[in-house]
Amino acid sequence: MARYSAASAAIDPDRSRPWWRRMAPVVLSHKRLLFSGLGCSLAGLLLQLAVPRLVRLTLDQAVVPAITGSGPPRPLSSFLWLLVVVAAGRFAMGFVARYNLQRTSLAIEYDLRNILYRKFLSLSFSYFDRVQSGQLISRANSDIRSVQMFLAFAPTTAISMITFVAAFGLMATTSLPLAVVAVITMPGVYLTGARMRSKLFPVSWIVAARQAEVATVVEESITGIRVVKSLAAEESQLRLLARAAQRLRWGSTLQIDIRARYSPYLHNLPRVGLALVLLYGGWLAIDGQVSIGTLVEFNAYVVMLQGPFMMLGFLLMLAQRAAASAGRILEIVDEEPEIVERPGAVDLVDPVGDVRFTGVVFGYSGAGTTLQDLDLHLRPGETVALVGRTGAGKSTVARLIPRFYDVRQGAVRVDGHDVRDLTLASLRSQVGLVLDEPFLFSDTIRNNIAYGRPDADEEAIREVSRAAGVDEFVDRLPAGYDTVVGERGYTLSGGQRQRLAIARTLLVNPRILILDDATSAVDVQVEQEIHGALQTLVAGRTTLVIAHRLSTIALADRVLLLQDGRIRAEGTHHHLMATVPEYADILARAGDGAAAATASRPAGQT
Ligand SMILES: Nc1ncnc2c1ncn2[C@@H]1O[C@H](COP(=O)(O)OP(=O)(O)OP(=O)(O)O)[C@@H](O)[C@H]1O
Ligand SMILES: [Mg+2]
Repeated sequence: MARYSAASAAIDPDRSRPWWRRMAPVVLSHKRLLFSGLGCSLAGLLLQLAVPRLVRLTLDQAVVPAITGSGPPRPLSSFLWLLVVVAAGRFAMGFVARYNLQRTSLAIEYDLRNILYRKFLSLSFSYFDRVQSGQLISRANSDIRSVQMFLAFAPTTAISMITFVAAFGLMATTSLPLAVVAVITMPGVYLTGARMRSKLFPVSWIVAARQAEVATVVEESITGIRVVKSLAAEESQLRLLARAAQRLRWGSTLQIDIRARYSPYLHNLPRVGLALVLLYGGWLAIDGQVSIGTLVEFNAYVVMLQGPFMMLGFLLMLAQRAAASAGRILEIVDEEPEIVERPGAVDLVDPVGDVRFTGVVFGYSGAGTTLQDLDLHLRPGETVALVGRTGAGKSTVARLIPRFYDVRQGAVRVDGHDVRDLTLASLRSQVGLVLDEPFLFSDTIRNNIAYGRPDADEEAIREVSRAAGVDEFVDRLPAGYDTVVGERGYTLSGGQRQRLAIARTLLVNPRILILDDATSAVDVQVEQEIHGALQTLVAGRTTLVIAHRLSTIALADRVLLLQDGRIRAEGTHHHLMATVPEYADILARAGDGAAAATASRPAGQT
């Protein structure tokens, strides 16, 4: 397993601060790398600045005197050696600077990713009900990337702006008028760049949104490929993609159009500057006011100065984008999990598994009430079936026991403790949930079983596999427990997936067990096969079974009928069949023909 090193710094929680200040602790937690990179970058740029000056000295003191005989020339080789030394220094500095600064930005990216992921995992179910997970994932990725790009680029640009000022200073000490002529086109370059960016900026958002659109279509049709194919919807899916791709192309073309209009100016304005330097400088040189070496030196500076200016423009664009991205990252970071442990929450230790709802009122946020004044009691070790129409709130009842959501009124108690007074980990480790469509990870069968208890030994895994009937099919697989199941476990059959989920829950050995429609995805034949596994599972635990099928209800000692948000009736299956017409009605509507046929069979008997 990869070693996990958490980010050593956190994002500043003060929301009134600008984003870069809030992220500063994360950046500064890598200050050794950052500052060594910056130092080398500065040294390298200063060495670069020395080059034109050296060239001028070479020309003025070694070459020109030798040609014109105007004085004793100095040896050319000494200048050459100096240039070699400067170039070597620049090479070394440039390497260290680039390497360290890039590593800094990647370290920051790594930290942000971990901070964000930790946050995602801490958020409550209600948050994930609200947001689109696909959007969240792709957005988090691209937002982190754009912040990383900005952070990688900003220091280098800041340093190169210093060189700009230094170069101008050097030129000004030689000839102020020529220095002014040399930079005269720069404001033009800057303004043109600014104009281009202001036009590009909104378009870049459009393009980003359209890219996400294309990604969503592709992602949805791949994850939903079984639905697409079974409904023969390939053609309409293709049309959907073509439309999104067409919109993306339109946006990208617009982007290229703007670039194509402005880029020639951006690239050629500096050449105009160069021409002006040659013209005015040539005139000054002819007049004897500056040397030939100075002319060449200025030429080199004019070329060198373009870089920082272009970078500054690019940096401003990145900054705009990074600010928007950082805003979205911080929005997630600032999201408060709704379900939090109370200070002084206690651990649920060795519970007997007594579950009690008293006067529970509950509704999902933004919706009306789903449960109204609900009372319910599950005695330790008993198995109770919860029956109700679709949408009656059965799954909702199940979700309140491990405190996936908080009740609006009343309380849910486990062993007499209000669930809000318990630590979440201890509560949830004692409540096992088996759903109708169990989610498996694309990992080996062994790791899927051990998911809730990664430290479980082979013996324990074999034991639960035997109990859940997993061993029967695993032994027939060529790689056995090391077989990697496909995404979400699609390479296994519904019944096999279900058995794996049962084994996974058995391994955690929770006192309280909830089977939410755990057998609805499998046919009656398979259900009978996993029935044995289910019976092993419920033995000795407090179990709530949510079911439509009589055969599953038959596992229960008692049946509760949920209607209009409260328990409408309660008793044995037999008793309810005889006395509550709605109950018989629901079972009949569940489409289980067997229900009516075997209706007279008392519950509790298999
Ligand atoms: N995460 C959610 N956010 C908002 N509303 C929800 C959420 N889950 C369920 N609901 C709503 O709450 C009500 C009860 O849903 P619940 O899933 O508990 O029904 P159920 O009895 O389990 O139905 P089924 O038998 O179809 O599984 C429904 O009206 C449903 O639309
Ligand atoms: Mg349900």
